[in-house]
Amino acid sequence: MASSIARSFVILSILCVITSSVNGQQLSPNFYARSCPNLLTIVRNAMRQAVSNEARMGASILRLFFHDCFVNGCDASVLLDDTATFTGEKTARPNQNSLRGFEVIDTIKTRVENACNATVSCADILALAARDGVVLLGGPSWTVPLGRRDARTASLSAANSDIPSPFANLATLISSFSAKGLSATDMTALSGGHVIGFARCATFRTRIYNDTNIDAQFANSRRTGCPASGGDNNLAALDPTPNRFDNAYYQNLVGRRGLLRSDQELFNNASQDSLVRTYSNNYRAFASDFAAAMVRMGNISPLTGTNGEIRRKCGVVN
Ligand code: HEM
Ligand SMILES: *[C@@H]1O[C@H](CO)[C@@H](O)[C@H](O)[C@H]1NC(C)=O
Ligand SMILES: *[C@@H]1O[C@H](CO)[C@@H](O)[C@H](O)[C@H]1NC(C)=O
Ligand SMILES: *[C@@H]1O[C@H](CO)[C@@H](O)[C@H](O)[C@H]1NC(C)=O
Repeated sequence: MASSIARSFVILSILCVITSSVNGQQLSPNFYARSCPNLLTIVRNAMRQAVSNEARMGASILRLFFHDCFVNGCDASVLLDDTATFTGEKTARPNQNSLRGFEVIDTIKTRVENACNATVSCADILALAARDGVVLLGGPSWTVPLGRRDARTASLSAANSDIPSPFANLATLISSFSAKGLSATDMTALSGGHVIGFARCATFRTRIYNDTNIDAQFANSRRTGCPASGGDNNLAALDPTPNRFDNAYYQNLVGRRGLLRSDQELFNNASQDSLVRTYSNNYRAFASDFAAAMVRMGNISPLTGTNGEIRRKCGVVN
């Protein structure tokens, strides 16, 4: 009797191992329901505080999540600090002098550790915080699948190659999202992250001085804050309402007032024009596609099960 139970248990365990290794492990919104029941409240309250201190933080944290997911999956690799013996992703071209919000994630992690230590990954905290930033700036909400674990590694070279450049053309943008399992529609909806936040002069200078598919008055007004040389870090809003998650970004694209060259590529007499037009006059269509695409982006090759670790501090491997 005891041995037949033991045998069934062994068979069942083997089956579990086989199915989980074949299917990978699915993320689930309820992953921490018992192990950290206050997680969602802790993250939301901390994000509310951060965004009320500085509205832009909602945008910055959203971008942090994008730059995490596009480099070997949503595994918090982007949060790791460089040390004498470890090179992280913070000095990659798209990240250096540009990514922000690390200290907000650290604050949330400290509070989460106090409530339920050694349980919740930094990767999941970032996924929740990105959602909350969008919601707090007036955007759509979505349920965040959870259960990601944290990487013990990072890749500077993948950060340089896999995160798209603001000088990319449409074909390159589509292929860099496709390489992550995301469609052209997902790419156009997710670029709507630029309904909030700011960009540095260095990222849009060639567009406002040299591009021809740009509204002349818009180009002129942006040149005021972004000289032909110097002022690389001067900021301009990515759309007219950088602290409000609306669809003005798409209205701008239709008016040839995209700030980044990569933005205007989405409306440049090509395949994404009709979708941009739809989003420009239908906020609900955009909000719903954006939310669905955020869940798909959040599913990019997560570490699950016993892979990776639950970092104690988000900036350093255990
Ligand atoms: C389609 C390809 C994309 C390109 C080429 C791109 C490029 C950029 C660039 C160059 C900046 C300004 C950075 C700086 O000046 O320091 C920026 C800012 C931003 N991006 Fe993107 N991005 C892309 C997609 C996305 C996606 C998918 C999201 C999120 C869903 C996103 C969210 C943001 C946000 C929120 C900001 C403002 C951040 C802040 O104010 O701190 N971007 N992006
Ligand atoms: C978690 O907290 C408990 C109680 O405070 C402590 O005994 C334990 O060592 C902690 N675990 C880890 C992994 O830090
Ligand atoms: C504009 O294009 C010219 C010719 O390619 C180049 O020399 C110049 O540096 C560009 N200016 C800016 C601001 O990118
Ligand atoms: C699209 O084509 C038209 C007609 O050639 C042109 O005027 C326009 O500048 C192009 N680009 C955009 C973004 O509309």
